[in-house]
Amino acid sequence: MLHLKRDILRRLASKGILIFSAFGLLASTHTMSASIQQPSGEHESVERRVAALLRKMTLAEKVGQMSQRNGSDGYAPDDLGEGLRAGGIGSVINVVDVDVVNELQRIAVEESRLGIPLMVGRDVIHGFKTVMPIPLGQAATWNPALVANASRIAAAEAATAGINWTFAPMIDISRDARWGRIAESLGEDPYLASELAAAMVRGFQGDDLSAIGSIAACAKHFAGYGTSESGRDYATTNVPQNEMRNVHLRPFNAAVDAGVTTLMTSFSDIDGVPGTANEFLLRQVLRDEWGFGGFVVSDWDSVRQLQIHGLTANDRESAYEAITAGVDMEMHGDAYSNHLGALLADGQIDEQLIDDAVSSILRAKFRLGLFEKPYTDPTELPPIASRDALDTAREAALQSVVMLKNDHRVLPLSAGKLTSVAVIGPLADAPYEQLGTWIFDGDPDLSVTPLHAIHSLVGHDIDVRYLRAMANSRSSSTDAFDEAVEIARGSDAVLLFLGEESILSGEAHSRADISLPGAQAELVRRIRDAGKPVVAVIQAGRPLTLTNIVDDVDAILFAWHPGTMGGPAIADLLFGVESPSGKLPATFPRMVGQIPIYYNQKNTGKPPSPDTVVLIDDIDAHAPQLSTGMTAYHLDAGYTPLFAFGHGLSYADFSYSDVRVSADEIAMGETVTVSAELTNDGDVAAEEVVQLYVRDLVGNVTRPVRELKGFKRVFLGPGMTVTVEFDLHTDDLAFYGRNMQLMTEAGDFHVWVGGSSETELRREFRIVDSD
Ligand code: BGC
Repeated sequence: MLHLKRDILRRLASKGILIFSAFGLLASTHTMSASIQQPSGEHESVERRVAALLRKMTLAEKVGQMSQRNGSDGYAPDDLGEGLRAGGIGSVINVVDVDVVNELQRIAVEESRLGIPLMVGRDVIHGFKTVMPIPLGQAATWNPALVANASRIAAAEAATAGINWTFAPMIDISRDARWGRIAESLGEDPYLASELAAAMVRGFQGDDLSAIGSIAACAKHFAGYGTSESGRDYATTNVPQNEMRNVHLRPFNAAVDAGVTTLMTSFSDIDGVPGTANEFLLRQVLRDEWGFGGFVVSDWDSVRQLQIHGLTANDRESAYEAITAGVDMEMHGDAYSNHLGALLADGQIDEQLIDDAVSSILRAKFRLGLFEKPYTDPTELPPIASRDALDTAREAALQSVVMLKNDHRVLPLSAGKLTSVAVIGPLADAPYEQLGTWIFDGDPDLSVTPLHAIHSLVGHDIDVRYLRAMANSRSSSTDAFDEAVEIARGSDAVLLFLGEESILSGEAHSRADISLPGAQAELVRRIRDAGKPVVAVIQAGRPLTLTNIVDDVDAILFAWHPGTMGGPAIADLLFGVESPSGKLPATFPRMVGQIPIYYNQKNTGKPPSPDTVVLIDDIDAHAPQLSTGMTAYHLDAGYTPLFAFGHGLSYADFSYSDVRVSADEIAMGETVTVSAELTNDGDVAAEEVVQLYVRDLVGNVTRPVRELKGFKRVFLGPGMTVTVEFDLHTDDLAFYGRNMQLMTEAGDFHVWVGGSSETELRREFRIVDSD
């Protein structure tokens, strides 16, 4: 079981966790340095160099910098060489052979007139060769320092291939688990996503963008893409400006504050103006209000898609819309290269527009140090899948797993008490599937599967009986189920490895039904009837509706797609070497019809409560008109989720008490400290993510019933009690009001501290105007 071992303490301290034991506070959260600050001298010299280079450039060379070309399979340096020599390409995407990258850089630097090096872009979304948990899983760790570290490792591995630009982090808020890209996101909450977005930017870019192992980050997709209608990828989005600012833009603002080098536009139509033509977002918000000094890249061919959207009649008009809106570089498309020159010649655009775009691209190249060091020597970087990379992948997987239920404390399994365990299901031994979506470069040969890890952990002490039972997660065949039941009957406990294969989530992989696919629910029912303790370990790219199986299993570990080291993390959790500590970054609905469902909803004028809800089966047949409570709920689903945002169980017994505020009243500009006692009543040491929620009772616009405003991951020894504190400044309570002005209002607030968004431990305080 869990002990406070010295090496664990060291490891946790290095991961930025608050650690308490019988000896008190042993280590504390360290925050990595904030945004990448350029010393002013360096800034001036970059600006001088940009201006000097720009003066030398022809129009064609400028447009070249604004054009990115695809270099994936089938393209050799020869295919791109001509364009590079002519100065017609500013960036390439999808070239991952370091020799090819170096050769492309050589042509750009040595054979083009001005020798401008290339931005080499790639989707390094959650790891390169060593795959970390999917971003949604990383979000479940609620651990910015760990997430930053995972991104740092991904950056260093990618840099060995000459990649200097990743199209991550993806920080679209998603409240719709049907959307396949929720897997790539940081979940539903603007605060959590903002903290983790900034962490990922710091991880990819490091403190010094020109350092070996740092690569430029790209916050995407600007903005509101996560609200695609009915979760269907690329579908229309309609986000009112107030919600856009208070919810969807906040992680982008945080990424910009953290110094992100680039942003990518959204594919979708946003209230009639697609992201790639959205001047309001790209100029007014991003540049004028936030002062973003990096550059904006379109999404894949999304400039030309403006025509398909029906916004423009041809590529020339599309190029016009995108450049005037503020898109600096076109990803894989030729609308800019074919038409910007003519638009300028015909006086439709001003050359200043082009100069501004090119300057911001050159600025990024100077800051990356590409002019000084265009070539990559992989031996200067840590080896792929280094010990550090694998340890971080394991730690991230460990902290990402959420224990949704654990009836009768069936978990952890006690090696001493079991003689045999059945391991059944399509995802127990699926090295590729556990990596999840967006793993262009991920290496399934590095994957350690749960089956393999369980064998290694229990050795010969326990008889492990494995049956895949289904060819894949979608299979509808039940042919192997009799054998599965047989194995279950003959074992002391059953571990069911269920979920979605990686192809069922990700871009353009949305689902309308988000329950366990194929015959998995049937497998669960058959195994339940074998009468043994049943633990479901679910790997998936999204929250699933688990209503039809939740009562048929004793425990559920929700492991997302946990990446390369998912197996050892899961095995350690199952057998109690470690305690689960992940918390949900997105709400789990009971039924798909509840979507969008999220904890920080508005109250409505008719909020539901337990006394107002009459469910469909309880309607009084004799007085049907009085049967329902006239409040905001579904007759067949009620109004609560199956598992709430922030939920996640532990092997420890954590209890919260004594929530306090340092003052009942504070003036505008002051800070209130909110604290709570956290006790570990159990006999194992474990980590808990302590969460702080706030409600602003009366607002200039209606405010959510709860908003996350702080969280801390705390490691607590058995029998210990600690006081966890959060400082809340009145600026932390700011929101965009009716006139889209950021404001904090005087008035009454509720605060809660606890282990999920459903915590009931509440205090109040008031903000008064200072004058
Ligand atoms: C995706 C982007 C990605 C790009 C390049 C697009 O289809 O929407 O997120 O970065 O492809 O692969």
